[in-house]
Formats: sequence, structure tokens, C-alpha cells
Amino acid sequence: ELQSNTLIVVLGASGDLAKKKTFPALFGLYREGFLPNDLHIVGYARTKMDKEEFHKREVSYIKNPANDEEVTKKIEAFQSISTYFAGAYDKDEDFQGLEKHLQEIESQYPTEERNRIFYFALPPSVFLDVAKGLKKNNYSERGVNRIIVEKPFGKDLESSRQMMVTLKKEWQEDETFRIDHYLGKEMVKNMLVLRFANIAFSAAWDKNSISNVQITFKEPFGTEGRGGYFDEFGIIRDIQQNHLLQVLTILTMERPVSFSAEDIRDEKVKVLRAIPPVEQKDVLLGQYVSANGKPGYLDDDTVPKGSVCPTFAALTLWINNPRWEGVPFILKAGKALNEAKVEVRIQYKDVTSGIFRDIARNELVIRIQPSEAVYIKMNVKTPGLVTRAMPSEMDLTYKRRFTDTKIPEAYEALILDAFKGDHSNFVRDDELDAAWKIFTPILHWIEGKKGPSPRPSPYPYGSRGPNELENFITGYGYKRVETG
Ligand code: BG6
Repeated sequence: ELQSNTLIVVLGASGDLAKKKTFPALFGLYREGFLPNDLHIVGYARTKMDKEEFHKREVSYIKNPANDEEVTKKIEAFQSISTYFAGAYDKDEDFQGLEKHLQEIESQYPTEERNRIFYFALPPSVFLDVAKGLKKNNYSERGVNRIIVEKPFGKDLESSRQMMVTLKKEWQEDETFRIDHYLGKEMVKNMLVLRFANIAFSAAWDKNSISNVQITFKEPFGTEGRGGYFDEFGIIRDIQQNHLLQVLTILTMERPVSFSAEDIRDEKVKVLRAIPPVEQKDVLLGQYVSANGKPGYLDDDTVPKGSVCPTFAALTLWINNPRWEGVPFILKAGKALNEAKVEVRIQYKDVTSGIFRDIARNELVIRIQPSEAVYIKMNVKTPGLVTRAMPSEMDLTYKRRFTDTKIPEAYEALILDAFKGDHSNFVRDDELDAAWKIFTPILHWIEGKKGPSPRPSPYPYGSRGPNELENFITGYGYKRVETG
């Protein structure tokens, strides 16, 4: 399915995302032989630099700790298929210069076909200019054209719609690949298999068996240096509205008719549309303060003084359909917490009373990162000459079970999908729209568009979050299960 006569242009090639994610992912795929043999990579950005300087930057984030000879050779080969072109993001003549550069590369192709992929590793301020400039000057009439774009897609329902309307004048939906990199993570992709390939799970996947679900994102560092961007968006737009909501849709959608991208996304949209907007009573906000020698959010020079932007949020969504009615889905995300962890925790109901009383609930935990795992908390008979139930665990930790398998990076998986033209793990326009509908009212409230902004509760850098968190979660019926 991979097309030959293909090149990829990385716009914003000197930026952070390109260096940290795009180029390492392209290299990872190249190294394993997943990309078309004749691929060319073209970097484009404002910074003036020659090819050598670009090559240096391109590889500066690629890890080769032991200076492995084979990897070094691959890096050199990767550089030999990469070039760079400097230009502005809003000037036709620069895009025309890029066009000449691309045509020169393409003049070596054995046939007339010309396929082009444009990767936008760009700040939102130049996004639409580039979409227009490329369409006008760099669109291939003799092959496929694709754009890969990244959030933020607007700031609320209205701005997102405006952006999409403008974008769609230039690029068709089937040419557009909207990245939510959580959809490229192994354990997120695994959820489709866990759910639909195991009757043991699918038979008890509803309000009759499940009490509550938590989807949690924790990071042990603050916004350090990224405060300017972050303060404009806040934790809910940064994490819940996209990453955690995507995880939720895969967890709760009905079984798609097939694996096709449209069948999967039809089901995702259906469940999203059954989720009413988040209500104020279902939200807990926090902001980290200085502790243990670490700076508070407001100590970051790039953050406006007195900002009430939340760096932590716990919020509960409800799904109004027969499968899920009444089950709380608690989405928690925070910066500057005590650990790095992303997981889904499904807590089952109590067993009906009778022979067992006060025994622990079952839980199914899908740990997305670090250390991918699926484990079940379950009750077993206390071994020995007594008949008592005790909670224990059945644990499938990937690095123990699949010792020889390298788990791909999310960006590797997604870029490969885009090369193949597979949209399954990309966000469709109506999905994005439904996601904004759920979060826009609460975001407007937080930003003071409906009266004074709520004050986030302070929590110390490196803690588990605001003090109110435990009550917030137990308020939705969660009971802690200790397996010792
Ligand atoms: C990004 C957010 O989308 O996801 C960042 O903007 C966050 O704030 C990052 O750190 C987390 O991604 P990952 O893959 O490290 O969990």
C-alpha cells in the first residue's frame, strides 16, 4: 500500500515538535525499513541554514547512545535522503521556491506519479497560511496529497468550526490527517482488541457490571518554559478534550461493523454525541504551587501574573445511552504531580451480599504508560485452611510477557498510517466538533466568560493533586481496593 514516488515535507522543521517527535519517528520507521524505498524528506522552516546544519539538527534528537555502528550508518543514509529549504509561512514566492526544490527531487522519479505528504509541525498562528500556500503552490496534480496536522484545533466550538471551514476550502477531509497522538499508543490501540476479542470482558461491559471508570493522566513536571502556550489553553484543552476523550470513546463505543476507518469513527461520533456538556458540579480544578524547591505555576516567568489557569482538573462525564446511563467517567489530568502515569481504571460493582460481605471490588486496569500493562484485581481464597476471600492481582505486564517485542512510538505508528492512507487512528471533523461541544461551556466558565472565573485549589508541586480529590472521586462511588 505504500506508494513509491513519494516525498514528505516537514513544515516547522527547526521547531520543537519536529525535533522531538517527527524526525525521530521518521528515522525509526526508516531504520526498520517501513518507509518507501525511494522516499525523500524535505525540511521547511524560516530559519536559514544549509544542508549540513540541518542534518546536524535533524539527528540531534535521535538516540544512539552506544554509538552503534549500524545505527550510525542508518543515520547517514537517512541524512542522504533529507534536504532543507528555508522560507516564510505566508509568502507565495517562498512556496514557489519550495516547489522548484520538490520538482528537482521528483525529476529523478521513473514514472510521472508524484505523491506528496505535508507534515505541519507548526504553531497555530501560521497553520491556515501554510494550508493555503501549499494548496496554491505545491499541490500535486499527479498523485495523492495529504496533510498531517496537530492540535490545537481552535480554542472552543466556534473557533474550531471557523478553522475547519477555512481549512476545508483548501483540503478535502480524506486528504487531512488530524493527529491525536494518544491514538497511536499501543495500549490505546489494544483496547479495541481487549474489548471485542474477549467475551469475558465484552459480556460485562456496561452499567450492570461497572460502577465507575477513571481515566488518569499524570505528569511529574510543570509547564517550565512552555507557560505562555499553556496559560492560553489550560489542562482541559491540553489533555482531556483530546487525549483522554479519545481514550474514552474507544472504551465506550459500540462494536464497529468493520475495521474500516469510517465504521470505527461512525461509532466514536455516536458515543460522543450521547455525552452532554460537562457541568460545573462535576469539575474540580487545581493549580500547583511551589514545594520541595520546585517552582509554582505562577513562578514561571512565561505565565501571566495572578493567572487562574488550571494545571490540574478532574471532571466527570456521563453517557446518555442504554449501555452506560448512570456510570460516571472521571477524567483526571495534571502537571507537576507525584509521578508519570497514564491509565484506565474500570471498577466493577460490589458482588451481591449473601455469603461474602465487604469484599474488594474487581478492577480492570489498562496502564498506557509507563510500562504498558493490563491487570485485574480479583478475589481469591486466602490460601490455607480458611475460607476467606482476599484481593489479589492477575498481571500482564508487557515487558515481562513480550520480552523481544519493541513497542512502537505513537508517532511512528501514526506517520506510517498516514503514508498508507489509513484514517482509522486520526480524528474526523465531526468527532472534533462533538468533542468541543462537550467541553466548550465549562471552558467558557473557567475563563470567566460567564462571571468570575473559579479559583483553582492549590496543590504542592510533586503531590497527588488538590486535597479535595479523594472526596471528589469517592463521591462518584469509587471504593479503593488495596491488594497489599
Ligand atoms: C501533549 C501535551 O499533547 O501531550 C503536553 O500538549 C503533554 O502537555 C503531552 O506533555 C503528553 O504526551 P505523552 O505522549 O508524553 O503522554
